[in-house]
Amino acid sequence: MVLIDGKKVANEIKVEIAVEVKKIIEKHGRPPHLVAILVGHDGGSESYVNFKMKDCEEVGFKSSLIRFEDDVTENELLETIEKLNQDASVDGFIAQLPLPAHINESKVLEAIDPEKDVDGFHPTNVGKMMEGLPTFISATPYGISILLKRYKIETSGKHCVVLGRSNIVGRPMSVLMSQKEMNSTVTVLHSGSQNIKEMCASADILIVAIGKPGFVTADMVKKGAVVIDVGTSRIKSDKTKSGFRLAGDVDFENVAEKCSFITPVPGGVGPMTRLALLLNTLETAKETQFTDMCCKDIR
Ligand code: GUN
Repeated sequence: MVLIDGKKVANEIKVEIAVEVKKIIEKHGRPPHLVAILVGHDGGSESYVNFKMKDCEEVGFKSSLIRFEDDVTENELLETIEKLNQDASVDGFIAQLPLPAHINESKVLEAIDPEKDVDGFHPTNVGKMMEGLPTFISATPYGISILLKRYKIETSGKHCVVLGRSNIVGRPMSVLMSQKEMNSTVTVLHSGSQNIKEMCASADILIVAIGKPGFVTADMVKKGAVVIDVGTSRIKSDKTKSGFRLAGDVDFENVAEKCSFITPVPGGVGPMTRLALLLNTLETAKETQFTDMCCKDIR
């Protein structure tokens, strides 16, 4: 069994990004600039955004955080987005999800200029991704596809089962895996699916993104399968300083020994998700101003 070390791969690629950033600064006088909008004080969202800002610092990007309280109005958010769309010093920006219930999430995501949508959530970018056109791919599927490539995992002709159909992970992941480049045969399972256990057990590649800690047990995994665990549930723990620990969707202890490859939680998909955001931001900087820079070589 090979443990897929997302942290190590992400750190290797971050070094490559940092080299590109130096070239950008030499040539254009400033680094790529990522802005994050964070609404409210959800512990998970705060810590994800802090990590994203820290990642930017590590590779030499400029990063800015715009914070709002939970009671921000939809109009205030939309006005901020419009300013960021117009601001030439901002290469890419994200609105951290989830947003409070009184805000129409789709309206917010659709207000972001697709050229600055480094999350790849705007319908224009989702549509381009569906068609296999160059665009920003949402971070988790993008990060996973880089991991599969770096570990030279055979995907062509394999049966890939994606557990979960969210707009952020499951659905775009299933599209990427079915495209010519990955060439897998894809099954998407969700809360309405029947025979989930049997379907998972038929997977050569099992990608799990349902947010239910330990859901995938050893009897659901075929011997020699590749298992990618996207779960990052925050569970109370008296063993960590923060009082929380991250739990994956896979019963790692019992599943790992059956796999050819498996991602741990933490240290598997998570660091690659954050890395993918950096790559998308690098790409935006290239497309809007740094036209001669190409980060495709990095992947
Ligand atoms: N919330 C959970 N994952 C994500 C992500 O990739 N981007 C944003 N903006 N919010 C998230």
